[in-house]
Amino acid sequence: MTFKTLTSVVVVLGGGILLAACTTKTTSTADAVSVPSPYGDAPGDVWSGYKTSLKSTQAMQDDDFENPAMTYVDAAAELYNKRVGKANKSCADCHGAPNDPKGGSLGIPMIGVGAKYPVYDAQTKKPINIELRVNRCRTKYQKAKAFKYESDDMLGMTMLVAMQSRGMARTTTADNPNNKLHAAWLAGEKFYYQRRGQLDMSCKSCHEDNAGKYIRADLLSQGQSNGFPTYRLKWQKPGSLHRRFRGCNKNVRAQPYGYGSDAYLNLETYLAWRGRGLKVETPSVRK
Ligand code: HEC
Ligand code: HEC
Repeated sequence: MTFKTLTSVVVVLGGGILLAACTTKTTSTADAVSVPSPYGDAPGDVWSGYKTSLKSTQAMQDDDFENPAMTYVDAAAELYNKRVGKANKSCADCHGAPNDPKGGSLGIPMIGVGAKYPVYDAQTKKPINIELRVNRCRTKYQKAKAFKYESDDMLGMTMLVAMQSRGMARTTTADNPNNKLHAAWLAGEKFYYQRRGQLDMSCKSCHEDNAGKYIRADLLSQGQSNGFPTYRLKWQKPGSLHRRFRGCNKNVRAQPYGYGSDAYLNLETYLAWRGRGLKVETPSVRK
């Protein structure tokens, strides 16, 4: 039996970053292929932004009655049960209750979705995240209008779906060259290490090199995605992961990409891998 270890080597060359992937052959099983985490693989090396949140913010997240995102989730739960569109079907008609482990008449449960997404979408041959998956069901099965990406309905529905996996560890094997998401993972990795904007900074500059340290008034986390959509006190509402990407791009005065764009779907795929093993915290609360 053989297995491959793929190691990503990051070489910093006078301001530029060169990424090289090298493959070595050793002996073990084929599915044991795995790239080591950039943060390390010991327990506690990979951590959630919950850790660097203020105690008062953590307390809001810990208590569903205090968590301001829950109003949006409650509205989405009503919508989930509502028959809409030309097909006059509700989400529940096909999937059962959001917390139905059997997944209703179709046997497709919402439990587990937040832990495994984004997944490979055979239709587009790209990653699909929960937002786009919800819209697929809206248009294809309910024959209803797609939600706007950053609308309250979409944020609420995405949180409702993702939170059915709260406490479950996030899994992905997109680093495996045999995984159909591998090309997206590679593109996401490249994006992550690319310096950009007037400040000439990459995601790594803040979330890998300086995680746990202050940048002006902000205590930096590893920039993990396990709590999204998140309720941001600054926004006074929930926001998607892609909104956060846009914010972090704009902070270094770089061009932001579109909601649901390929660039951000790739980044989302890569980020899920950087945070593999972290528990789903949706809806998290952040500053
Ligand atoms: C008429 C039946 C139908 C309705 C109504 C429907 N879906 Fe789906 N849904 C499916 C089917 C079938 C799949 C499996 C993928 C496919 O065949 O497209 C699916 C897949 C999904 C998945 C991905 C599950 C996974 O494990 O990957 C999610 C999430 C989802 N639906 C959420 C919703 C939500 C939220 C609604 C309401 C806004 C909804 N669906 C409405 C039929 C439906
Ligand atoms: C100039 C520093 C900086 C850069 C560069 C940067 N971010 Fe951030 N990011 C922040 C700050 C500050 C926060 C809020 C505090 C925290 O969680 O680190 C944040 C938060 C996040 C969060 C939310 C984490 C959570 O727990 O809610 C994600 C996800 C994220 N960043 C991803 C990225 C990605 C992906 C990139 C590269 C495209 C990037 N960031 C580039 C400063 C930066």
